[in-house]
Amino acid sequence: MNILEQAKWISADFGEVCPIYKKEFAAAKPVKKATLTITAFGFYIAEINGERVGDYIFAPGWTSYDFRLQYQEYDVTAMLSDKNELRVKHGKGWYDSPLMGKPDKFHKYDKAILCALEIEYADGTSEQIFSDDSFVAAESKIRFSEIYDGETFDARVESENWTAVKERYFPHGLLIPQQGDKIVEVERLKAISTFTTPAGEVVIDFGQNLTGYVNFLPTGKSGDVLELSHSEILDKDGNFYTENLRSAKAKITYICNGADDWYTPNFSFQGFRYIRLDKWSGDVNLDNFVAIVVHSDMKRTGHFECSNPKINKLFENIIWGQKGNFLDVPTDCPQRDERLGWTGDAQVFVRTASYNYDVERFFDKWLSDVAADQRPDGGIPSVIPSPWPLIGLDWYHSSAAWGDAAVICPWQIYLTYGNPAILEKQFDCAKNWVEYQRKAGSSEFLWDDGPHFADWLGIDSEPGEYRGATDQYLIATAFFAYSTELLVKSGKVLGKDMSEYETLYNGIVAAFREKYMPNGKLSSNTQTAHVLALYFNLTTDKAATAKSLADLVISSGTQLMTGFVGTPYLLHALSDNGYTELAYSLLLREDFPSWLYSVNQGATTIWEHWDGMNENGEMWSADMNSFNHYAYGAVADWMYGVCCGINIDESRPAFKHIIFKPQFDTRLDYAKASIDTRNGKVAASWKRDGGKVEYSISVPNGCTASVHLNGKVEEIGAGEFAFEV
Ligand code: BGC
Repeated sequence: MNILEQAKWISADFGEVCPIYKKEFAAAKPVKKATLTITAFGFYIAEINGERVGDYIFAPGWTSYDFRLQYQEYDVTAMLSDKNELRVKHGKGWYDSPLMGKPDKFHKYDKAILCALEIEYADGTSEQIFSDDSFVAAESKIRFSEIYDGETFDARVESENWTAVKERYFPHGLLIPQQGDKIVEVERLKAISTFTTPAGEVVIDFGQNLTGYVNFLPTGKSGDVLELSHSEILDKDGNFYTENLRSAKAKITYICNGADDWYTPNFSFQGFRYIRLDKWSGDVNLDNFVAIVVHSDMKRTGHFECSNPKINKLFENIIWGQKGNFLDVPTDCPQRDERLGWTGDAQVFVRTASYNYDVERFFDKWLSDVAADQRPDGGIPSVIPSPWPLIGLDWYHSSAAWGDAAVICPWQIYLTYGNPAILEKQFDCAKNWVEYQRKAGSSEFLWDDGPHFADWLGIDSEPGEYRGATDQYLIATAFFAYSTELLVKSGKVLGKDMSEYETLYNGIVAAFREKYMPNGKLSSNTQTAHVLALYFNLTTDKAATAKSLADLVISSGTQLMTGFVGTPYLLHALSDNGYTELAYSLLLREDFPSWLYSVNQGATTIWEHWDGMNENGEMWSADMNSFNHYAYGAVADWMYGVCCGINIDESRPAFKHIIFKPQFDTRLDYAKASIDTRNGKVAASWKRDGGKVEYSISVPNGCTASVHLNGKVEEIGAGEFAFEV
């Protein structure tokens, strides 16, 4: 039995002030082992004898709280002495924040904590301490804390008036052990400069747009109020810019006690590069400010480098986009009043994410939430964990390319890491999603109904419109086909009879061709429509569709016109079909719209909009303009897969058999990539030597590879190899 079953949920209500709970206990005999098991609705920080327990930030993490709540176990043996004090600080966290800008309460229960401490003594006896009415509570120094708005901390407050806690009768049935990676402080960045803006604001620059918080040494007399705000970017005049945060206040207020030590916000994080010192006492000493980067504890696995420094900067920005948005849940952005697990963004980026970092556990947990939040009709909320009711909001669930995350993400996690368990676990969810699509249109084979986000933020949208020009139902039916195809593949890996879905797939493809490709031509003459027809194998004449895509790209001025749906596959659709040079031209393009445009504008992360900031420094809009949105960073999988040629063979996943299929371009002198896979390190590099290219690869022990070069395919085993092209 889970030890927490015997503990009572407890809470204390001090309005906006964060409670601190206390329990004193003795451990007068030698301790063999002591374990603290704890969770909360809200965030908790546990301390024993004044020391923080563990390094988990924002515990217990973010899950679909109505169904699943993680608990954590900490070995606290070394922290105990004869007389002990357990303290737990308690904040709102994701549980009680106005997610999606929605101030009213959504979750069923109030904030509360639940914990159990088990002490095993060396003499074989043991003792258990459970949260219950023997705990007391008081107001803490944290006068206010909220993920979006920031924190107010009064260092003068001593928690003195201990009062009784309230026992709560909340369920234990939704408790699950820690499933994802823990969230940790990963890096510390020094402040690089301070300056005064034209508006007279004192600003500190950390040189990098990041997700986390500022650790600072308050300097002031008792009662002095220090205040700082966060921002990702300066406006065209060089002033501090916060409009794109929308309602998120992103403000830290600290009240000094005159003997202050370094301070770190407890229950709040921000997406920022700059801070503005709205109120400060004394000199501004850069050594007194450090930005702490927080994200899920994932191991870096992928690297890429080439002879073009701007592409290298782009790649680095993609990595930072992942760091900034893999905070327990794959989020759209870390700064404005949103920071949510948008499904579409996650599916767009999952392949790149899984090469850059080991995200198997991360996605395993999030996909369990996708399944938990799936609607009874198979529909998938567009944001997971869902902060909104699952029923009743039609615009908010089951958009094409968003809901498809239910199939695309497990499939990619299986391909990258090779464990079919993820397919087994997610199979019903994926199947129910395909069944949802099957019922959602005018016929079994067409998904031509319902609201969709379409080619979100496509450049070809009408002025003032977020949705690109491609027919949303063409996109929906194309993704219906793709999800069905991946469902069939997943089922086959699991040894299931998938003939019904093979028939469904053939029907969708035929219906797509009839309705959206009459006479072989796409009914939407857009880049994205062509990209989907090619990448999802929906066209009968790849050469003609590819030519027509290439013509569209060239006639637009060799520029992309795509949004969230078309962009991830655009370069693949070109280079898979004979237009590699054009794909490189798009990658290397520097003018708006392009990946390098933002690099030239000084970006340190990936922007939500191709033109988040225009050449004159004007913002696209104040309304929806994140400078840390990873979606367009999906181009990194093309760098690994096409530029360096490292590809997974679906029949032998996890790089057990590698398909090396590089495509070079004369505008680069060299490129190299490596991925630490479940089967060892896979690497590929090439360099230009006069008119020749030397291509070198490394195949880990136990793996094999096919090398596609010079119009031939060569089968090889493990080892290091070099080829001349
Ligand atoms: C988010 C996106 C998301 C989209 C859905 C936006 O507000 O930031 O990244 O996918 O809404 O349309």
